[in-house]
Amino acid sequence: MKVFVTRKIPESGINLLKDHHTVTVSKKDRVLSKTEIIDQAQDAEGLLCLLTDTIDSEVISSLPNLKMIANYAVGFNNVDVKVATQKKIPVSNTPEVLTDTTAELAWALVFSVARRIVESDSFCRDGKFEGWGPMLMLGQDVTKKTLGIIGAGRIGTAMALKSKGFNMNILYVDPEHNSVLESELDAQKTDLSTLLSTSDIVSLHVPLTDDTYHLIGEKELESMKETAVLINTSRGPIIDENALIKALENNQIFGAGLDVYEQEPKIPKRLKQLNNAVILPHIGSATRETRSKMADMAAENMIQGLNGKQPSNCVNPEVFE
Ligand code: GLV
Ligand code: GLV
Repeated sequence: MKVFVTRKIPESGINLLKDHHTVTVSKKDRVLSKTEIIDQAQDAEGLLCLLTDTIDSEVISSLPNLKMIANYAVGFNNVDVKVATQKKIPVSNTPEVLTDTTAELAWALVFSVARRIVESDSFCRDGKFEGWGPMLMLGQDVTKKTLGIIGAGRIGTAMALKSKGFNMNILYVDPEHNSVLESELDAQKTDLSTLLSTSDIVSLHVPLTDDTYHLIGEKELESMKETAVLINTSRGPIIDENALIKALENNQIFGAGLDVYEQEPKIPKRLKQLNNAVILPHIGSATRETRSKMADMAAENMIQGLNGKQPSNCVNPEVFE
């Protein structure tokens, strides 16, 4: 069968697909428009797409042979899974292989913001360092502070578990009890407003859905501590970005570490001007090892789906009921 891959991904995944199917990889190393995807995947049975591709009802309905969608990401808010399900098309994602990698990036952001790493680096490069100073670049301690995890799924749990060396008090918000966090870290399940008002570090790990859109807005930011650090490695629209910019401009919280944006890849100019924000280009899963594993996983799911089997990481198993 024919598989269209919307952008070059690590070779091992492509080779795996080529052992079973006829594979075309987009020749453009950029995000394709919907029209380009429809055009180039026109006769494909398999679509291997990225989180930057909009696979909505129009795209799905315009691909007459489509039998399987493998998304090269754990988040799949870019795919209209409801429409795919109606058309009996399985959709897969790439969970687990990127959990530690993304949790590590969340920690990199915690320290970057709390200890003003990026600002300090620029300070040195700009020739401003004139010697040790008692009041120079004062940040926030992390050890023994309270870490608030919003969304205690795989990544949120991994992020919390990595706090062990820092003896932190862990709070979490999740619909479910997390027995790993409760037994290993004595973590407490709480509600959003308690978590926000008592945490020193707040880290977001929820998927983007209608319920989590703008979960953190003006009111939520107001309830946070003046010394708090907010980390987002999930999806941009979970935070009302304008409200966050205002809060950072007014030093209402200490700082924010962001890997994702509301209108990605657009980053508002006002955000770029802030010293108390560390901004990264959506690199949560961006390590060589993890991206190769994601490619293999997406390819394996594609092969299973095109064989009529339920892919190992199917997000709409209802298709097989
Ligand atoms: C990255 O953002 C992913 O969802 O894999
Ligand atoms: C995503 O993989 C999550 O469950 O955190």
